[in-house]
Amino acid sequence: MAPRKLAAGNWKMNGDLASLTEIDQLCKAHPEPGCDMLICPPALLVYPMVASAQTHALMVGGQDCHAKESGAHTGDISAAQLRDAGADYVILGHSERRADHGETNADVAAKAAAAHQAGLIAIICVGETEAQRDAGETLSVIGDQIAGSLPERSDSANTVIAYEPVWAIGTGRTPTNEQIAEVHGFIRRQLDGRTGDAVNLRLLYGGSVKPVNAAEIFAIPNVDGALVGGASLKAADFGGIVAALEAAG
Ligand code: 13P
Repeated sequence: MAPRKLAAGNWKMNGDLASLTEIDQLCKAHPEPGCDMLICPPALLVYPMVASAQTHALMVGGQDCHAKESGAHTGDISAAQLRDAGADYVILGHSERRADHGETNADVAAKAAAAHQAGLIAIICVGETEAQRDAGETLSVIGDQIAGSLPERSDSANTVIAYEPVWAIGTGRTPTNEQIAEVHGFIRRQLDGRTGDAVNLRLLYGGSVKPVNAAEIFAIPNVDGALVGGASLKAADFGGIVAALEAAG
C-alpha cells in the first residue's frame, strides 16, 4: 500500500516558543488530517513542539543531524538525540545546508544512514540551481544527487525525497507543471531497481508552495506532497496546503 501523502513544513531559522500557538491552531483546525502533517522547527523547538502536539496528529522533525551517534562535535545534534526528543523525521541535504555548510552527497548519505539507524524518516532534498537548469543539466544533477545521497536500504518506510529547485525557494517562482512532472518522473525511474520498495517512496515538491498554487501542484503525477518553507509558519497558510493535499486524495 502506498504511504500516506505528506505535508511537511520547514521553519528554517524562524520561530520561537510563542510560535507554538500556530501549532495549536493548526492542530485544532486539522484534528484528523487526511494526510501526514509534519513541522520541522529549529532544533531548540523540537521538544516543546512535540509536547504541545502530543494529543494531536502532528508529527515533528529536525532540519539536520550529525552522522555520528555521539561524541566531540560541538554545536551538532545526533539523529538519536532528535529521536529522543520525540522527532519522527529529519530533513537532510537541504540546498541551504549544501550551500552554507558545504554538505556533499556523501555527507547527506552518511547522515541519512544515521537517521535510519535511529528510527527517523529522512527527507532527502535534491534540486538544481538556476544556472544548472539554464545549462540543461537539471536531470544529470538530480541523478547524481539521488545516486549519491541515498544510503543502502532506503525504502518507502524510512525515506522521502523532496525536489526543491534552488531558484524556486523563497522566490515566489515555481517551475511549470511539465517541469515538475519531468523531474518527479525521472526521480521515480531512478529509484526503480534499487533494493526494497524504494520505487514507492514519497516524492515531495518544494519551492514557493502556497495555498493558492498547492492544488495545481498536487495534481501533477508523482507528487506525493510538499515541503513548505515560508507558508508553513502560519497555521492558516499551512492549513490551506494541508486541505489541498487532503482534497487531492
Ligand atoms: P519556500 O516555501 O519558502 O519557498 O521554501 C521552500 C523550502 O526550502 C522548504 O524546504
